[in-house]
Amino acid sequence: MSKAPLAAYPALRLRRLRQADWVRRLVRETVLTPSDLIWSMVVHEGDGEIPVASMPGVSRLSVKGCAAAAKQAAALGIPAIAVFPHIDGAKKDAAGSRAADENGLIANAVKAMKDAAPEVGVMCDVALDPFTDHGHDGLIENGRILNDPTIEALVAQGIMQARAGCDILAPSDMMDGRCGALRTALEAEGLQDVMIMSYAAKYASAFYGPYREAIGSGKLGSGPVENPGDKKTYQMDSANTDEALREVAMDIAEGADMVMVKPGMPYLDIVRRVVEAFSMPTFAFQVSGEYAMLMAAAQNGWLEEERAIMESLGAFKRAGAAGVITYFAPRAAQLLGA
Ligand code: PBG
Repeated sequence: MSKAPLAAYPALRLRRLRQADWVRRLVRETVLTPSDLIWSMVVHEGDGEIPVASMPGVSRLSVKGCAAAAKQAAALGIPAIAVFPHIDGAKKDAAGSRAADENGLIANAVKAMKDAAPEVGVMCDVALDPFTDHGHDGLIENGRILNDPTIEALVAQGIMQARAGCDILAPSDMMDGRCGALRTALEAEGLQDVMIMSYAAKYASAFYGPYREAIGSGKLGSGPVENPGDKKTYQMDSANTDEALREVAMDIAEGADMVMVKPGMPYLDIVRRVVEAFSMPTFAFQVSGEYAMLMAAAQNGWLEEERAIMESLGAFKRAGAAGVITYFAPRAAQLLGA
């Protein structure tokens, strides 16, 4: 059998649709817009901005700075901000006692942002790690992370955030049953419009490294109480994919309105599976380590910075995500608007 010459198949010229920008735009399958972005932001208790060394271009903002950033988000068409607190070491303890402080940093930041730009959604992490001296997301007894007592603390924290004006509670702790407990408490408090975006499929990942610096979280395994050196007893094993579907199913059944896969780029297969299985608004978190990798390579001249950023964000849309939580949000929105 002789090999047919290419000319025998004149229709098979896929490059035809790539020949000019206008036709590439015309046939483009997915598009990233500022409406796809949730701006990941860190707030601290002092004044001014403090650069995060491992995340070039990212600074911890003051409460005032967050309010100004919320206005900037509105102007850029960014729908929502996810705010994370950097808490002074002196205010941390083993139980994360200040996590539900209604006069604390998060309450103040949420109020300031909602006052400055009510049209911008505010999302808060429900998790104890910024407030614990060991850096774990839960309460600890004899070196083990306790599930149900942690949930009680998370509910108190989530209700505080909702009362402060937070629009979306984002439980990131990976305790079993947290979404149901939060949903029940929100209903009981008359806060039924508050949304839950659960960190449903959250993996025990090395890519959260720079975040620890950003929020001033200590080294796991150290500190006054005995505690594990990693989060593998509550966050997922990176080798698993069916388990992600069970996690997502559970959170949806318990009352999550939106779900998240985290980290982002190393877990695009999970994003795709979750979207296909549940048809729920599914978000990906492009985490601190992904940000740091791109910036480090760009700063070395090894990647074209803007192209790499936009390609990395577009990948989430291609995988089927409704949107992406990212530290690049203001920059990407500016580039998209230009
Ligand atoms: C804490 C939390 C983490 C991140 C968001 N919420 C870290 C962790 O679980 O250890 C990571 C964010 C990032 O790396 O950008 N529950």
